Amino acid sequence: MSAYPSSIVCCVEDMRQLARRRVPRMFYDYADSGSWTESTYRANEEDLQKIKLRQRVAVDMTNRSLHTTMAGIPTSMPVAIAPTGLTGMQYADGEILAARAAEKFGIPFTLSTMSICSIEDVAAYTSSPFWFQLYVMRDRAFVENLIERAKAAKCSALMITLDLQILGQRHKDVRNAMTAPPRLTARNLADLVTKPKWCWNMLHTERRTFRNIVGHAKGVSDLSSLGAWTAEQFDPRLDWAAIEWIKNRWGGKVILKGVLDPEDARLAANCGVDAIVVSNHGGRQLDGALSSINALPPIVEAVGKDVEVWMDGGVRSGQDVLKAVALGARGVLIGRAFLYGLGAQGEAGVTKVLQMIAKEMDITMALCGRRRIDEIDAGILVPGTYPTPTHRV
Ligand code: GLV
Repeated sequence: MSAYPSSIVCCVEDMRQLARRRVPRMFYDYADSGSWTESTYRANEEDLQKIKLRQRVAVDMTNRSLHTTMAGIPTSMPVAIAPTGLTGMQYADGEILAARAAEKFGIPFTLSTMSICSIEDVAAYTSSPFWFQLYVMRDRAFVENLIERAKAAKCSALMITLDLQILGQRHKDVRNAMTAPPRLTARNLADLVTKPKWCWNMLHTERRTFRNIVGHAKGVSDLSSLGAWTAEQFDPRLDWAAIEWIKNRWGGKVILKGVLDPEDARLAANCGVDAIVVSNHGGRQLDGALSSINALPPIVEAVGKDVEVWMDGGVRSGQDVLKAVALGARGVLIGRAFLYGLGAQGEAGVTKVLQMIAKEMDITMALCGRRRIDEIDAGILVPGTYPTPTHRV
């Protein structure tokens, strides 16, 4: 038992602990897990920790700002909310709540195809444009329809995920037999009675399954189980021609997520997209792949002059954001960090996470002797502790 009151939240790790107590086990585990041995999942965080910051002193620290742009869109810090599946199972109406927190904070929110709240639900409860993440389905008419729905909702960018046409196995999901909504087995009920607030909120919303899909896709037989859902719907033949087709169909800003290799980064940049995201899907797909921070420098070297390079994976603090920016990321996406806040405290929890990350970033930037995001480069890092295009940490 900790000697401190659990209500005092100082960092993302505090939020994680709180979320673990408040979110039903199968959904907490869904968020807080990686594939197979979880080695890449762990490496994302561990490799960021190995990088050391250079403290500078007697430097003017006044007039600091974290403002920047991502894909030409102004943001109050170089952070956007990542698309995460089943967000509305961490907390009732989770996607709407997180989108509202992001909107008030002035950062982009990305809605996942595999969300509980639909594109229309989020549009109804927000006033600034959000981004929509697209998985490419076998049913191209359904993909076209999703694109049209995202256009109708005035989404300002389409994020195409490249690394999940088949699902990496996460042992915890298999063991928990995760479905959305949860099946009312004896084991699940025993867990749910310990999460009364979650149950109460969930009983008071109608949004309890994949609402981007239900009522929109033809012949969907089992929507509740993630494994069955992806095996049935996702198109394993996804290739660069399909991306080109989607890009033309969409006609707006496109972000490609899930690039880990410089050769793929070059192919992605050649598509003429607005940004690519260096990502291993939070360590949830190819276990044994490089950590995102180690994959970043060779990709920045390969394509950084031609396209904006962003990163996700393991970012739990403002220091982590600065390290990625120092290594050439124009911005980062946060997934678990916001999910923990959401699961712990709903919209207020997401806001608190964004505030904590912004404060950590601001103070850290100042202690490194910099005042603006465009002044951040590898000069804030201790030589020998960070990855380069040819050296990993
Ligand atoms: C979906 O994006 C997942 O990682 O489960």
